[in-house]
This record gives sequence, structure tokens and C-alpha cells, in this order.
Amino acid sequence: MLAIVRACAVIGLDGCIIEVEVDFNPRATLPMFTIVGLPDSAVKESRERVRAAVKNSHLQFPNKVYIVNLSPADIPKHGPAYDLAIAVGVLASTDQIPLAAIENSLFIGELSLDGSVRHVKGVMPMVYAAYQAGIERVYVAASDAPQAALINGLEIIPIETLGQLVEHLYGLNIISPYVPPPLTIDDSTLPDGIVDFADIKGQQHVKRALEIAAGGNHNILLSGSPGVGKTLLARAMPGILPKLTIDEALEVTRIYSVADVLQGERPLVQARPFRAPHHTISQAGLVGGGSMPKPGEISMAHRGVLFIDEIVEMSSKTLEVMRQPIEDKIVTISRAQGSMTFPANFLLVGAMNPCPCGYYGDSTRACTCSPTMISRYQGRLSGPLLDRIDLHLDVPRVEYDRLMSDERAETSAEVRKRVESAREHQRKRFEGRAGLYANSDMGVSEIQQLCYLSPEAKQLLEVSTKRLQLSARSYHRVIKLSRTIADLEDSRRIEVPHIAESLQYRPRPQNT
Ligand SMILES: Nc1ncnc2c1ncn2[C@@H]1O[C@H](COP(=O)(O)OP(=O)(O)OP(=O)(O)O)[C@@H](O)[C@H]1O
Ligand SMILES: [Mg+2]
Repeated sequence: MLAIVRACAVIGLDGCIIEVEVDFNPRATLPMFTIVGLPDSAVKESRERVRAAVKNSHLQFPNKVYIVNLSPADIPKHGPAYDLAIAVGVLASTDQIPLAAIENSLFIGELSLDGSVRHVKGVMPMVYAAYQAGIERVYVAASDAPQAALINGLEIIPIETLGQLVEHLYGLNIISPYVPPPLTIDDSTLPDGIVDFADIKGQQHVKRALEIAAGGNHNILLSGSPGVGKTLLARAMPGILPKLTIDEALEVTRIYSVADVLQGERPLVQARPFRAPHHTISQAGLVGGGSMPKPGEISMAHRGVLFIDEIVEMSSKTLEVMRQPIEDKIVTISRAQGSMTFPANFLLVGAMNPCPCGYYGDSTRACTCSPTMISRYQGRLSGPLLDRIDLHLDVPRVEYDRLMSDERAETSAEVRKRVESAREHQRKRFEGRAGLYANSDMGVSEIQQLCYLSPEAKQLLEVSTKRLQLSARSYHRVIKLSRTIADLEDSRRIEVPHIAESLQYRPRPQNT
């Protein structure tokens, strides 16, 4: 007898419904269990798990011929997520589950030898694919139910064991669908290890720049001598980032589901990501890759911050692969089976020393590097990459007296209020414009349509552009930044002070 059960594959971040066809031939004499349809070794091993799980659930596993076909055959199948569907297929084809009971359903889960159903990765995109395919019910491991229920519009049935599932399908011990708690974002408590702005002495200028970066999602580069507090300042960033919206949280959660880093009961990601990969990270680790591509750090930082400390130490190849995603806010990875795309809209915070010895421009120590060494060092960040960084900051040394004083600066929470309000202006500004969510996302046409400059501001910009010989890109960058500065002050128009401040953050000409 033939049974057809639905399961799901995940390609990139997208689920793809797979039909698991199990053909049972009771008349065969030599027992056989074959899986066809591009299975990898973990899928092939499914045979052994399914056999043991069925037997240990006190169900029958007639020792005859089973052919399992996973279709469409051209999609590669990975991992143990097909176990449950294969087991259900075996049971349905041997008359131990009524065929009518598995219609319109999707089965996701790995099986233990004792018959219990286990967590698999990528449940959220799978359930979403089921929803789009019009499937009404999804059976998942009980531990995956909260994640599955992030998708509305279908029934999520949490199951602990294969035996329990069979009873449910026979209508014996009905399992009630999982009822999810309402989707909420609670980020009232900052994650551990996040520095509060109030604990950082001085550095008003840098804090202000970080506020602007957060306010309009602008990339920022901090340069300064060793120990001046670059890492400290960058690590304070999460405290001033705007709250995630539910839609953004769902986007991030989908990536985290595929990367398999979600936590049990409350899987919805609550805070903007802050990723700080080491500068020795591989290209695949940074932008994503592998034979079955996984999201890299830049996608794990989607809607949050990617902090690269000692960014100049990163290999030039690795830096270059980041260039395109910074511009496009997505990354495309090509493979023989086709290309896949991961979102990568992050705020880049880079930190670096100004020269090899670290003390170029320092007020307390002389730099021992030659001008050639300095320009070669700084030149490791290529022009096109620097061009994509809106804020360039020199971090000065804080004087001893200041460091020791007990002055209390503004807290992260206070700064964050302004950031939130600036983002609210942007949300209204970009309403109905797909793909635009912060000022840094604006292209040339949006800048022209949406950024009003006062006549005086226009004049200042014109004079500065000529005097400083700003490139077209720098010119637009100045306007985008001043738009954010104006938003932080709730100003509808861009005024002279906004332009003047924004001009301070342009890249320094390279030292020679
Ligand atoms: N403004 C400040 N207020 C309070 N503490 C500070 C400040 N600046 C630096 N510190 C202290 O100095 C330490 C070193 O700072 P940090 O590691 O951020 O320096 P850095 O600029 O990243 O140096 P390096 O270039 O060597 O990486 C911090 O852990 C912190 O304790
Ligand atoms: Mg550091």
C-alpha cells in the first residue's frame, strides 16, 4: 500500500514542502528499506531510527519491502527532520494509521530510538511554508511548539512520542493544539555584559556619534589609541538601540531558527542582535556559506549591530566580501543547486587603531610609525568600504581627572528615548515605501523627495561641498546624516547646525 505524508526541507531561509511517499510491499520475500530522492547520510540513517522507534512504541514493523521516495527529487534533503514523516508513512502504509487522518498535515521531527520526538532546526520557516501551501495542521516535537506557533493561521499539535501521535490520529487520546502566548517584545532588562552610557566618563562626542548611528542606522568607525575605550563604547551600543518591532523580531527569529540558536518557551527574539565576530573569522563564517549554506555573522546581525573590533586586522578579502552586503543589505550565496539569499541589514561598528604602533595623534605618547607605515595601515580599509561608513570618529584619551571623577553622565535609557523618537519620525516618513526603514537606507531619489533643507542649510552645504571637494556620495551622506540629526531634535527641516555637525563626521583625508 502507498502512503503519502508531508514533510519540509529548508533551503536558505525558505521552507519547501516535501512529499514522503512510502510504498509497502507485503508480498516481498527479501526485506528491504530504501530511501530515494537525494537524501544525505543523516536522512539515510533515518531507516534505523524509524525502525527502532516504531518497534519501541509497541507498533508493528513488518519485515518486508519499503520504498521511500522524497519528492521533488531535485531538492537535496538534509538532516533528521524527515524521521517523523517517514515513520508516519511506514505506519500508514502498513495500516496502523488511518490515511484520512494524515491529510492536510505536516510532520516535522527527529525520532529517538525509544520513540520520542525531538527538536529539529528551522521549524519556523517550515511552518511558514506549510501555511503558504494551505496545510491546516502541523505536528512537531512538544519542545518546538512555541517556535512553530509564531506562525498564525494553522493548528500546531505538540507531540512527545510516536505512540502518542498514533493514539491521537486514531482519535483515542486527542492532543489539544498548542495555544501560544501573545507576541510581545519585552526588553526592559538589558542583556548581561552591556555597558551603560552613564558608566563611561567623558567621550561626549563619541557618545553623540553613537546616538546618531543608532538614530538612523548609520555605520560608524571608531579610531583611537589603545585603551581609550573604543571597545567599551561600542559594547554600550545595544543599550541605545531602538526596540525591535514585532515584524523585525519575526525576521530575526526566522534566521535564528535556521541557525538553531532559539530558546525553548519564548522563542521570539526580544532584543536587537549584537554580534562581535573576531577579526580572524573566515569568509564563510562572516557572510554565510558551507555546502548547505548557513547564515553568517552579517545575517545573524540583521536588524542589529555587527561590531568588528580591530577591523584593520581583518584580511582584505574578508573585508571585501562584506562590501556588497553593506550596500544591498542582503547577501547572495551561489551554489550548484542555485543561489540563496539571506537578509543582512545591520549597523556596522568598526574599531581600529590609527597606526601600527597605535599612538598616531595621541596626546600622551609619540607615534613611532613612519608616514608610509601609517598610510599603508589605514589603506587596508579600501576606499569603497570607507565610503559606506557614514560616521568617522577619532576617540580621544579621557583625562585622568575626568576618569576618576564621580560625574554621572546621561544613562543609555535616556539616550534611547531620543533614538526611539527619531526612528518614529523615520517610520512615518517611509510609510508605504518598501525596504526603507531608516535614514541610512535612502537612495538618491528619496533624499531628493524626503529631505527638506532650509535655504541657509542649503547654502552651507553648497559652500562646503565646493570647499571640501566632496564627492557625490559624500554629499548625499552628509544630507542623510543631517536628516538623522534633525530627527533626533524633532526638527522637520534640516537646518544649518545639522549640516555643520554632519560635516564633522566625514572621513579624514588619509594621513601621509
Ligand atoms: N571613558 C571611560 N570611562 C570609563 N572607563 C574607561 C573609559 N575609557 C576606557 N575605560 C577603561 O579602559 C578599559 C580599556 O578600554 P577599551 O578596551 O575599550 O580600549 P580600546 O580603545 O578598545 O583599546 P585597544 O585599542 O587596546 O583595543 C576599559 O575596560 C575601561 O575599564
Ligand atoms: Mg579594543
